[in-house]
Amino acid sequence: MTNPLVSIRNLCVDYITDAGDVRACSNVSFDIAAGEVFGLAGESGCGKSTVAFSLMRLHKPPAYISAGEILFNGNDILKYSDERMQTFRWKEMSMVFQSAMNALNPVLTMEEQFCDVIMCHTNMTRHQARKRAEGLLEIVDIHPSRLNDYPHQFSGGMRQRLVIAIALALNPKMIIMDEPTTALDVVVQREILQKIYALKEEFGFAVLFITHDLSLMVEFSDRIGVMYSGELVEVAPSNKILNAPYHPYTEGLASSFPSLTGPKTKLTGIPGSPLNLLDIPSGCRFQARCQHVKDICRQKSIKLTQIEPSHFSNCHLYGEPITQIKC
Ligand SMILES: Nc1ncnc2c1ncn2[C@@H]1O[C@H](COP(=O)(O)OP(=O)(O)O)[C@@H](O)[C@H]1O
Ligand SMILES: [Mg+2]
Repeated sequence: MTNPLVSIRNLCVDYITDAGDVRACSNVSFDIAAGEVFGLAGESGCGKSTVAFSLMRLHKPPAYISAGEILFNGNDILKYSDERMQTFRWKEMSMVFQSAMNALNPVLTMEEQFCDVIMCHTNMTRHQARKRAEGLLEIVDIHPSRLNDYPHQFSGGMRQRLVIAIALALNPKMIIMDEPTTALDVVVQREILQKIYALKEEFGFAVLFITHDLSLMVEFSDRIGVMYSGELVEVAPSNKILNAPYHPYTEGLASSFPSLTGPKTKLTGIPGSPLNLLDIPSGCRFQARCQHVKDICRQKSIKLTQIEPSHFSNCHLYGEPITQIKC
């Protein structure tokens, strides 16, 4: 990709635990273009939030970034000072957290919460910040007068839209959405995602979209990366992920979701359970659950490899690396 907005290179994140070091994110590399929606999929515990937290440098002990680069417009944010990070967060990249609905402060009005963020990062006066907050509420279809209300006076879907509006407050170039709709019912989920998509079209920000719901992800993402036990195992345009996956794990994920349009098929799922990250075998991490496992899979690991234009996988079924990863 030429001139990506974000370029993650060989990112490793470790958690120091009493039982030993857990590498929750292992040599993860991918790019996100300006204005692109990049989906990150995979079972619970595979490392999606760990990658997201790295992009905002929000890890606290026992977690730490042990290797890699995170380039934003070509600059490595891992080398930024803490002061520089303060201006980077929210202004250049913001985040809607998992369980965002509970991220609002229950004892402050929405005006106070919006103005806090805006005034902390800009030179705006309280009056100007209030005006900006009113505009943001309108953007997410909530009447500006509701700024005087407290979080409990809003429905779950509205609270989620408020959190998204706060993430938009400083016009960031990228927003990370970590399971932004998981706690909502399916109808509200879709409404929120349609809103996010419309806002992205209007304002041009890129989105790192994290969810374990692959069908929602396919609908709203341009490209998708699939993680398994801390590694990125496949990256492809979203229409290819379900229809023509190259990694057996992605195949398994795809067969765990019913198709809304295709013929009725039996959902098979993926037998077995994810790896214990304290006990990683040599070779491929998916070997114990893979239907196509070969001897080489138990002996040798393989890097993410280009299989066809824009489609990368790290599976021995497709041979040795043809091209070094630059997805
Ligand atoms: N506080 C922690 N202490 C130790 N290990 C952790 C901690 N948080 C996460 N992990 C490890 O990191 C892995 C990835 O977690 P996470 O990024 O939250 O996964 P996901 O968002 O995909 O569900 C987990 O499987 C776990 O092994
Ligand atoms: Mg998570």
